[in-house]
Amino acid sequence: MERDRFYITTPIYYPDNRLHIGHTYTTVAADALARYHRLRGRDTYYLTGTDEHGQKIEQAARDKGVSPQEFVDEMAAWIQDLWAELGISWDGFIRTTDPRHTKVVQHVFARLYEQDDIYSAPYAGWYCTPCESFFPEGRVEGGNCPDCNREISWVEEDAYFLRLSKYADAMLQHIEDNPEFIQPVSRRNEMVRFLESGLEDMCVTRRRDALQWGIPVPFDPNYVIYVWFDAVTNYISAIGFGEEDSDFDLWWPADVHLIGKEILRFHCLIWPIMLMALGVPLPGQIFGHGWLTLAGQKISKSRGNSVDPRILVGKYGRDAVRYYLLREIPFGADGKYTERSLVERTNVDLANDLGNLLSRVTAMINRYCDGVIPAPGEMMEVDTNLTVVAADAVAEAARALERNLISDSLEGLWKLVNAANKYIDETAPWSDEADDERRGTILYNMSEVLRILAIALRPYLVDAPSEMWRQLGLEASVSFDGTCWDDLGWGGAPSGVAIDRGDPLFPRLDADEVLQDNGKKQERKEETKPMIDFDTFSEMDLRVARVIEAERIEGADRLLRVMVNVGHGKTLQVVAGIAEHYDPDDIKGQQVVVVANLQPAKLFGVESQGMILAAEDGDDLSLLGVEAVLPPGSKVK
Ligand code: MSP
Repeated sequence: MERDRFYITTPIYYPDNRLHIGHTYTTVAADALARYHRLRGRDTYYLTGTDEHGQKIEQAARDKGVSPQEFVDEMAAWIQDLWAELGISWDGFIRTTDPRHTKVVQHVFARLYEQDDIYSAPYAGWYCTPCESFFPEGRVEGGNCPDCNREISWVEEDAYFLRLSKYADAMLQHIEDNPEFIQPVSRRNEMVRFLESGLEDMCVTRRRDALQWGIPVPFDPNYVIYVWFDAVTNYISAIGFGEEDSDFDLWWPADVHLIGKEILRFHCLIWPIMLMALGVPLPGQIFGHGWLTLAGQKISKSRGNSVDPRILVGKYGRDAVRYYLLREIPFGADGKYTERSLVERTNVDLANDLGNLLSRVTAMINRYCDGVIPAPGEMMEVDTNLTVVAADAVAEAARALERNLISDSLEGLWKLVNAANKYIDETAPWSDEADDERRGTILYNMSEVLRILAIALRPYLVDAPSEMWRQLGLEASVSFDGTCWDDLGWGGAPSGVAIDRGDPLFPRLDADEVLQDNGKKQERKEETKPMIDFDTFSEMDLRVARVIEAERIEGADRLLRVMVNVGHGKTLQVVAGIAEHYDPDDIKGQQVVVVANLQPAKLFGVESQGMILAAEDGDDLSLLGVEAVLPPGSKVK
């Protein structure tokens, strides 16, 4: 029997820093699915929240000079504001510092300890703070995290372990028996391979002297509970696990845990094993989507390539940002983010295809039908074909959404948008050949397509659909908020209602203008820096240098690896962010200015031992030079 409830979750976000467009991606996707299931009339619970414990939050608060609790309070409020701005329709927002949650985590920990699924033993291995992950000795080479490639620390302490190994076979069996449990299939295969290579027990505590900011182990004050053990438990604590008279049985098991692909293991192995050990049913599905990338790299706070969703929403509106995220990237795969492609999607799909359709139809209804939706007359073949396309598009969107394939569902709906544009051109209601009845039929059919689209687009867009409804004058007879998926059958548009043509749904953007404007804004933001004294300035060793060789760095569109001669027989390797402006061959032999005493740092796996100076103006960039030809190593002062 079809379940009439739907429980969907996003990961709970680390509030150590402002969230970026990558986090927005997960959240908007889950929101679209939640909105779709509500539209289908299913009772829906959409849970999101914040993952507030652990070392990186403790560090971030320390850096800011506030207590961890003050820090996370402010960040959680900021995150809620961000989601509200994007129109996210969450039903629950769980914070792991909520006493309701900490109680459940302690209860689960104690219970697993009592039944010997948690035991104490010494731990020796690596810990990556940005990932909050443990790694056994053999998996780490060269002191960097195997997942995020950042510096990692060695940890040796007595600890508590979760007996994952005991459940490895049962876990594998569950994955095999339930093909939908991990999706897409590539992720499922990845997890099967991982399980088959052997599952070791996992450390689930940190010693209190190494980390204070966590949930205490209830029976041992020397320890706090590992942040991932704490975090995954949110999916049941938020709905009242272990509480009397709670809604737990109503919602659990979750239908979908939507997550990014880098946190698969926690969700597809550790979390289900915790549930198995507790005797609680496993979630229906874990869907691991891909990453939003910039210049070939995952967008992330620590890589310094993050994109602020608020700036995008301010510039383009939330519907454009939501649509872009949901449509541009085949759901499940990685996808490149560029602001230019966002502008193009907005112009082509939203302004031209959809917005123009509404605008043309309402203009013609005003002109030919006194501003009132006409009654349809006799249907010709071209008209009935359109009704078939509409039914097919809606069915295709539903099929895809039932499988969480959001971009495919939009592709399905755009078949109707495109067919409708073609239909107007072919039937040409403006031509002299069309009489009033024919015009009435065509414009009725077009109103009907727009009515259907307004409803079918509700999962993805939050403002445009109701505006379409309003302009079509439908609100007078049918409340938009009351519409549902069942209203998508042909023929629901009431004839005789007065339309109210308004502004374009999505004004066309001038790409060059908006993208250039972006550069200027950034520049203004960075205008002032605090004063420094002369001694600070003279600590910088600036030198004239000559480029010996340069080449592109694979996977990093903006970077060149440049070897420069800095005089006195010395050569430095510098990673420079100039690849979009200079070809490697063009700068060979060029005289440049470098900072020669900068601490080395690794960028995309390549060590950079200095910095080449350049001036920037919006999208333009120019290397700094000196007027005369001087020997490499000449001091710049
Ligand atoms: N706190 C953990 C999750 C605990 S859930 C029990 C965490 N938080 S996170 O803030 O780092 O990431 C949250 C989500 O954002 C993850 O699903 C992650 O994949 C997603 N994204 C972060 N950067 C991303 C991209 N560049 N692209 C797509 N999604 C990305 O992990």
